[in-house]
Amino acid sequence: MLDKFNRDINYLRISVTDRCNLRCRYCMPEKGITLFDHAEILSYEEITEVVKTGVKFGIEKIRITGGEPLVRKGLINLVSMISRIDGIKDLSMTTNAVLLDGYAAELAKAGLKRINISLDTLDAETYKTLTRGGDLTQALKGIEVAKNAGFAPVKINCVIKKSSEEKDAREVKKFCEKNGFQIRFIRWMNLENGDFSAVEGGDGGNCTQCNRLRLTANGILKPCLFSDIGFNIRETGIEQAFLKVIENKPECGTFSKKGKFYNIGG
Ligand code: 5AD
Ligand code: SF4
Repeated sequence: MLDKFNRDINYLRISVTDRCNLRCRYCMPEKGITLFDHAEILSYEEITEVVKTGVKFGIEKIRITGGEPLVRKGLINLVSMISRIDGIKDLSMTTNAVLLDGYAAELAKAGLKRINISLDTLDAETYKTLTRGGDLTQALKGIEVAKNAGFAPVKINCVIKKSSEEKDAREVKKFCEKNGFQIRFIRWMNLENGDFSAVEGGDGGNCTQCNRLRLTANGILKPCLFSDIGFNIRETGIEQAFLKVIENKPECGTFSKKGKFYNIGG
């Protein structure tokens, strides 16, 4: 469906959990975060209803995000439920790959088409520091398994401080070239002061062409990462929430005081 600024809204990003098995410095405070109550988190049935209603409003593409989606139990079931919905042409997921090893083949079988993996460095110590304890070997294992599971393409999200010429970024780029992965450089954003910028080699950050909506794990449908506007689907009703969120999609996002990546999924 077209919004007021003639953008064809066809893409919904769904955060399935605010939990994560890593604590990336750019994403989470060290102490961790106040997590949503279990009762607030949408069930897979509710998420499926949102997608079915979304299709009526023109949604064709879905991305599953977190937190880390793979820490939520039974995620494969959700993937099958969504991939079977008529009208969904593309289903992808963003993950840190740490748990992918055990899941990649099943995810592909359940209908997941594409995968984006976060990888900011190939240095094990730097990885550990950046993610506050993550094991690079495990992430690399997950990436390898994803490659073999046949996701096409495998994309790598690489967060950079200032430039893609930084040492870590150059190494990740080389690794991607060697393996046939597409790389997307993402500038380290500071949501507190609204310092955000376009993704190099991605389609984010360009407000005039932004075709996406977001659903948080606790059921808030949002028009923009950088906006506090949102409608709780349980209170507003799914159809009304879609109508309102499309109606209220800002021409261009300013920064959000409340939104954080772990609950809106990057
Ligand atoms: N700045 C830039 N990217 C971020 N991500 C999360 N937090 C930030 C931030 N502050 C992105 C990373 C990661 C994805 C899950 O979310 O690209 O790969
Ligand atoms: Fe977890 Fe991704 Fe946030 Fe890192 S960026 S803490 S992997 S949700």
